[in-house]
Amino acid sequence: MRFWRVGVTSGVPSENKTKHYESLYQIKIRRTRSTATGRSRKSHYQIGSHFGRGQGEFGQPCRLAYPKGKTFFARFSFGLFKPKDKILGADFSGIVEAVGNNVTDFKVGDRVFGESLQGGAFAEYICAPAHACAIMPEEANFTEMACVPIAGLTALQALTTHGKLKTGESVFINGSSGGVGHFAVQIAKAHGAKVTAICSSKSVDFVKAVGADKVLAYDQHDIHQHQGAYDLVVDTHGNLSYDDYKRFGQRGVMVGFTTMGHMFSVLLKKAFGKFNLTQFTAQANTADLETLASLIQKGKIKVYIEKTYPYEKIPEAIGYIEAMHTKGKVAMVWKE
Ligand SMILES: NC(=O)c1ccc[n+]([C@@H]2O[C@H](COP(=O)([O-])OP(=O)(O)OC[C@H]3O[C@@H](n4cnc5c(N)ncnc54)[C@H](OP(=O)(O)O)[C@@H]3O)[C@@H](O)[C@H]2O)c1
Repeated sequence: MRFWRVGVTSGVPSENKTKHYESLYQIKIRRTRSTATGRSRKSHYQIGSHFGRGQGEFGQPCRLAYPKGKTFFARFSFGLFKPKDKILGADFSGIVEAVGNNVTDFKVGDRVFGESLQGGAFAEYICAPAHACAIMPEEANFTEMACVPIAGLTALQALTTHGKLKTGESVFINGSSGGVGHFAVQIAKAHGAKVTAICSSKSVDFVKAVGADKVLAYDQHDIHQHQGAYDLVVDTHGNLSYDDYKRFGQRGVMVGFTTMGHMFSVLLKKAFGKFNLTQFTAQANTADLETLASLIQKGKIKVYIEKTYPYEKIPEAIGYIEAMHTKGKVAMVWKE
């Protein structure tokens, strides 16, 4: 269903969003000044690679809502015949230009990053709910911070909110080299966990460099025969069976899933079984974004950006991330 993708990614009309600046709890964020080049002004919006979030998420919801006909059911929430929201993009970073009357935590000129629940981040200006924004770390640049919100929140909430990770525990992370995975490895290490990570053999060095203690390649090791023992199993790729979780985990968190059939099969078995397995959708909130900002500030998390695209090449960028073999993140940078 690529026609959706083409339709929603062409052009980035900024005026539309500025007109919608009406909520008392919103902040308006403008395109950001490029600290890297010192030239003119740029905005940076993450492209990323997960699905299932707000309609506007560029690479991510794009992959659920608009790609290749596998996910028709998603149209019931994202728009049956065409996307409800014409401007994609959920993750962003930028400079606050105006705040609603009831916003107290942000002021004009603040450098912020966050997630727009309604989409619209692929524009020069965006109105975002204040509760889904946080102040950027001082040293961080806009491009890297635009890559953090959804993937970082998902990794953090999978491990801590839902996985209840404790210091010294062992974690198994399936799908460890992508957006969510590379953050999950680093956040788990920051929590003092021992990390075993799964990725393709071509990504093994990358995942080791990110900090995993042990890395297994799924193209050389049959994960469904794996015999390890871990306190927590986090599956970002989404191909672990209920029996896999049970066989080598004490508790599990299902972040992604490969097919609807697979997801229902796991959740059905969970409903009748006793294994402690959680499936969730990440929620944006300032507190968790601040936790991520603090980990970045302390050097505990590094954002790895595999590719950066100018905004005119958004369709190309989506095509790239659709393959689901991104190393770290993909970013979109606003044109000069
Ligand atoms: N629940 C939520 O709220 C939520 C939020 C965000 C994302 N998600 C979901 O989380 C998943 C990951 O998102 P992402 O943004 O991190 O995706 P991504 O950046 O495209 O990364 C996908 C990763 O999966 C790995 N992979 C591919 N085939 C694999 C296999 N057979 N076994 C193990 N790993 C494999 C890839 O590694 P190689 O390149 O090394 O093959 C890649 O690192 C997606 O399904 C997404 O929908 C859920």
